[in-house]
Amino acid sequence: MTDVFPIKGVDHLEFYVGNAKQAAMYYAKCFGFTNTAYAGLETGERKVTSYVMEQPGIRFVISSALSGNHPIAQSVVRHGDTVATIALEVPNVHEAYQSAVARGAVGAIPPTQQSDECGVLEFAAIHAYGDTLIKFIDRSGYPNGFAPGFVNRATVTSSLIGLVGIDHIVGNVEQGQMERWVEFFVRVLGFDQRMHFDDRAISTEYSALMSKVLEKGGKTIININEPAQGRRRSQIQEYLDYHQGPGIQHIGLTTHDIVQTVTQLRQAGVEFLPIPQTYYDNLDAWVRETGLPVDKFAELGILVDRDADGYLLQLFTKPVGDRPTLFFEIIERHGSRGFGAGNFKSLFVALEQEQAVRGNL
Ligand code: FE2
Repeated sequence: MTDVFPIKGVDHLEFYVGNAKQAAMYYAKCFGFTNTAYAGLETGERKVTSYVMEQPGIRFVISSALSGNHPIAQSVVRHGDTVATIALEVPNVHEAYQSAVARGAVGAIPPTQQSDECGVLEFAAIHAYGDTLIKFIDRSGYPNGFAPGFVNRATVTSSLIGLVGIDHIVGNVEQGQMERWVEFFVRVLGFDQRMHFDDRAISTEYSALMSKVLEKGGKTIININEPAQGRRRSQIQEYLDYHQGPGIQHIGLTTHDIVQTVTQLRQAGVEFLPIPQTYYDNLDAWVRETGLPVDKFAELGILVDRDADGYLLQLFTKPVGDRPTLFFEIIERHGSRGFGAGNFKSLFVALEQEQAVRGNL
């Protein structure tokens, strides 16, 4: 079957923040990113400061506005620091944009060419949930830099902290809106719906939510959550209240050595959700039989889960900003293509405790 909407993968995620210089330093010092390119007043850019932060397989762009009336500043007022753009690399920007709009997407940036002495970069964008944009980028004509207007800084050869890629990108939408956005990714962008978790699977008692998983080409994975009615305020509703609308909730980052990666992240000051010792006392026998270092997992707060295809190791940071919105997941997969459904209950107990501390339960 021919793909109705070919994409090569995630090109980058762009963050809109209040202070790009300091946020970039957080991602450098704590998450091991290298600043590979920069645009700002010194490079002739008068409105926005942007830091391109990279490690192999992962590219973040951290941007802030230089005046209060710029849309990035307005985004920060409303949402706090947020992931504003999912940029997908496509083979043909014109075709991507035209076919997305023809299938019902709302255009945000029509196909645009930017050029300098390094080449030509083509891009366009459509609107997704909330204020999130999905950008289409063709960098085949611009192989040696990030974009016109940026100056190159360092190059990255290896990851300092062991992160190797983006596993999945998760968005939160309002109650009753999940189906609409699942349908958007399927119909407009040709994603396949792979699995879903209803509110029974994701606990009726704690921070209830529903979730669907969309996949493209086996490697680009986008999940959509909506709040569900539980006894307490859903964790998704807490996000929506503080983000003031839908947006990206968390980004799953892949490592091949979660113990080493999490040890380094913790040493650098990254905070993770605390997991009670009882979780490790009650682990199924297969975990020790597989030879996994359970004591080390307990020390670091690493969760384990398995399904028919294999197992996975995962854990979640606390929110990385002041508002209880964006966080990261660190994940090491051994065959399993799931998302740790077996951990949802204990995870949500931990999440609920954090919500209670914030006075938001
Ligand atoms: Fe996740």
